[in-house]
Amino acid sequence: MTDPSGIYVDGTLGGGGHTEALLSVLAPEGRVLAIDRDDDALAEAARRLAPALEAGRLVLIKGNFADAPQLLAERDIHQVQGLLLDLGVSSHQFDAPARGFSHRFDGPLDMRMDASMGEDAAALVNRLDIGDLIRVLSRFGEEPKAPRLAHAIAAARPIGTTAALADVVEAAAPRGQESKTLARVFQALRIAVNDELESLDRILDAAPRLVATGGRIAVISYHSLEDRRVKRILRTGNREGSLHRDLYGNAITPWEDLTRKPIVASEAEIQANPRSRSARLRVAQRRNDTEPSARHPD
Ligand SMILES: C[S@@+](CC[C@H](N)C(=O)[O-])C[C@H]1O[C@@H](n2cnc3c(N)ncnc32)[C@H](O)[C@@H]1O
Repeated sequence: MTDPSGIYVDGTLGGGGHTEALLSVLAPEGRVLAIDRDDDALAEAARRLAPALEAGRLVLIKGNFADAPQLLAERDIHQVQGLLLDLGVSSHQFDAPARGFSHRFDGPLDMRMDASMGEDAAALVNRLDIGDLIRVLSRFGEEPKAPRLAHAIAAARPIGTTAALADVVEAAAPRGQESKTLARVFQALRIAVNDELESLDRILDAAPRLVATGGRIAVISYHSLEDRRVKRILRTGNREGSLHRDLYGNAITPWEDLTRKPIVASEAEIQANPRSRSARLRVAQRRNDTEPSARHPD
């Protein structure tokens, strides 16, 4: 946090833990705008963080964080001191069988973060042709046996529940690889249903205009598809990840990367919260466009 009286965006409100932590270190006039596309998350935060809401220190917004520039502009806010993203699915979403995110519980094959919108995972799995199913599994799940699994899934259609999908995947997975395969297939479908990588790309592109000079972006990712994107943009300012320099050798990038190596959870934190094991935190500071980079990252 760079300015205790500033405006901060938590793009992934979830259970509200980060928003609450931000509010606890901000001055009374500092504000948090917290976005989520999940109505349950917003309702729970409205209940739990009611005092901050009533004091006008917290604003809750239903929407996609990729639309943050417009969502904030509607509230007459054009720049902020910080943007925080804690990507993926919340523990609440993951542990609620009715949301269909986890192969550990039986429930409808839904997986939509915004349960009021779009096609759910069952509709997607039952609609895609084999080629697209293979592409989803290999692109979003980095699944080495994507063709074999896609054929098995197609042969079992229609599939309507997490348990039905898990049965097919387990039967088609190489022996001993059942759990990893299940995790990859469920991850792939979840990313496809929620357009997760596209949302991430859009907010990373928009962030240099949204975050004021001297302000920061902090992103926590949970798998390499996300972390690769975040790393490239925060190091080089572009999706390709190749650093451009001006005539004087200064890096042309809006960001000063503050974490050359991602910050990972301590053993104690992993003990307390096993899902933090795969978390990777990267932070960058918005540079002044008119000043050369101090660090010349490569
Ligand atoms: C890992 S959880 C965040 C947990 C939160 N930091 C906390 O302290 O409890 C991710 C949350 O972000 C939401 N989310 C994920 N992608 C989103 C997007 N593109 N737009 C808005 N919300 C999103 C999910 O619905 C979920 O509630």
